[in-house]
Amino acid sequence: MATATMPTTQHPVTISATKLLINNRWIPSVSGKEFSTVNPSTGEEICRIAEADAADVNKAVAAARAAFERGPWKKINASERGRLLNRLADLIEKHTDELAALEALDNGKPFTIAKAVDVPMAVACYRYFAGWSDKVQGRTIPVDGDFFCYTRLEPVGVVGQIIPWNFPLLMQSWKLAPALATGNTVVMKPAEQTPLSALRVGELIMEAGFPDGVVNILPGYGPTAGAAIASHMDIDKVAFTGSTEVGQLVMEAAARSNLKRVTLELGGKSPNIIFADVDLDEAVEGAHFGLFFNHGQCCCAGSRVFVEEKIYDKFVEKSGARAKRRTVGDPFNPTTEQGPQVDDVQFDKVMGYIESGKKEGANLVCGGKRAGDRGYFIEPTVFADVQDDMKIAKEEIFGPVMSIIPFKSMDEVIDRANRTTYGLAAAVWTRDVQKALAVSNSVRAGTVWVNCYNVIDTRAPFGGFKQSGIGREMGEYGLQQYTEIKTVTVKL
Ligand code: NAI
Ligand code: MG
Repeated sequence: MATATMPTTQHPVTISATKLLINNRWIPSVSGKEFSTVNPSTGEEICRIAEADAADVNKAVAAARAAFERGPWKKINASERGRLLNRLADLIEKHTDELAALEALDNGKPFTIAKAVDVPMAVACYRYFAGWSDKVQGRTIPVDGDFFCYTRLEPVGVVGQIIPWNFPLLMQSWKLAPALATGNTVVMKPAEQTPLSALRVGELIMEAGFPDGVVNILPGYGPTAGAAIASHMDIDKVAFTGSTEVGQLVMEAAARSNLKRVTLELGGKSPNIIFADVDLDEAVEGAHFGLFFNHGQCCCAGSRVFVEEKIYDKFVEKSGARAKRRTVGDPFNPTTEQGPQVDDVQFDKVMGYIESGKKEGANLVCGGKRAGDRGYFIEPTVFADVQDDMKIAKEEIFGPVMSIIPFKSMDEVIDRANRTTYGLAAAVWTRDVQKALAVSNSVRAGTVWVNCYNVIDTRAPFGGFKQSGIGREMGEYGLQQYTEIKTVTVKL
């Protein structure tokens, strides 16, 4: 047990889960190795965590396979799976403050935001899929001849799930809830930057009463533990959220091993298109939220803000002023809007993009520097006069860096918005319903927001076109990714 001291003492947390969860037991890794998880506000170690590798993945897969084929999980009523998920949701809700504090400590997101957004959205996700547990049903099909034909939706089997660090608790719920609702068993690897909340939820999973081996949680690194999951011969499906680059590796490993099913939720470079007829202040605030929320570390961040020429200068001025007002600092301070980036690697990557924006001649309106003198804080940064072919307009920055780009006409902006390898999200701001629908229908993206941004709900599917991914999470579509269809034909 390690008690971590906080940047402020308002929310002390005791960290009790630091090992691997395999078969409902907390155990060290086979190698005995550990790694440190770091507080991004200070750059200091929070505590040591057991480090899983291929040997641990083998153990976890064996436990998950046994639970799937032979354990009580196989025979459990569908309604009972729903009851367990609801119990888990209740436990997470009961520990809201503690889990929000773990997110703030390990990831750097503001405690008040984790408490108001991340934890309740995770709870909602578990409850939504709990409700589905006993409502996943097949059909009867009138085939030719004297036969009775019906379909069953069966679990895929042992599912590997690899999640990122930007919304640790929430991404865990998006993966676990639909998998468990449909009767799969899981081997999950949290991101090496943020293992703490996932492991704490592991304790709550045990407390909720899930049988042995149903959920196994293995903190560790991508090229070792993650790759072992993607290439494992006895994992039936892998679900991954992270970079497009690693998504390709995961898909390749899945193809080369056992053709396991693959769902991918990857990067983005989402266009946020703002027409001149909008309420300017509302659109400025919406675009600010669309980019800077979670320190810019959102796959769906509105990182290409296209603004119609007529209001361009005013929009830039107001966006710069808003970004300057953004409060950056201690995640445990209730007035903080933005904490640190998650780690030194992300910090360096984002600072590199800021340098490239300056070098390529974009106009730096505000920010551009490190904030504070320790930890990984970056000033909210706004670039104007960004050209489509600049690196900051093409590549995913995943940080608090907004690019504002002028446009003249609707057809032109649709064309430019689509000139990207990504297709995760998009938004359009206008009072003209025809423009709103024309853009919504033409933009190649999995989610389009009209006069809003980042409205994400567990009932609505989320995922990408093009290189932003394969498959959808959440909603009924998210559920389908965790079942196989079986056709049964009976001679009468
Ligand atoms: P990443 O794609 O390397 O990491 C995501 C997860 O994949 C982590 O759990 C990691 O351990 C695992 N992983 C890494 N290499 C793996 C491998 N070879 N096989 C299996 N699993 C592996 O992303 P990273 O390095 O954390 O961030 C790099 C960039 O990716 C970010 O700057 C951002 O652009 C993007 N990203 C996108 C996210 C999203 O929500 N779509 C989330 C995190 C990062
Ligand atoms: Mg950390």
